Amino acid sequence: MRAERTHKKSITLTVNGHRHELSLGERPHEVSPSHTLAHTLRETLNLTGTKVGCDRGSCGSCTVIMDGRAILSCMTLTVECDGKSVKTIEGLGDPKTGRLDPLQQAFIDHSAFQCGFCTPGMIMAAKALLEDTPSPGEPEVKQALSGHYCRCISHYHVLRAVLDAAGKTRGE
Ligand code: FES
Ligand code: FES
Repeated sequence: MRAERTHKKSITLTVNGHRHELSLGERPHEVSPSHTLAHTLRETLNLTGTKVGCDRGSCGSCTVIMDGRAILSCMTLTVECDGKSVKTIEGLGDPKTGRLDPLQQAFIDHSAFQCGFCTPGMIMAAKALLEDTPSPGEPEVKQALSGHYCRCISHYHVLRAVLDAAGKTRGE
């Protein structure tokens, strides 16, 4: 498997429904073996909605959804993502109408952010939870967001926003 990868010249990555063929190498706009997915999203694909806080797997701000699971993009090497499908905060709204995802709207409605640095990661983690568990209780939401740090606000605003979005998604 490893030998096969080293001979590859490119990998494919689908991000927010767009398929990208990314050349492997050390030149600008190429993917080096040491590049994290967070780096590739921000620096190569210019998707800067994904934030990098600690860059060592401790804060949750770099969270994206890969093949349906919330993952830390700072702890994921891009070369390991060949053929995967990734969703970032830029892919949540409706591209046709520009309408925000109900989760994004709920964060606004509940003032669930201040500086907003941690917010994309929290929203993506919550989105993965709601896709898997459409009617989560408080314990599930707290568990899903347990690795996410915010310097600005009470996490209870976030909790209310996610539970509210879950209710709207269910049509309550
Ligand atoms: S930047 Fe990835 S967990 Fe902090
Ligand atoms: S809103 Fe500022 S770090 Fe969370």
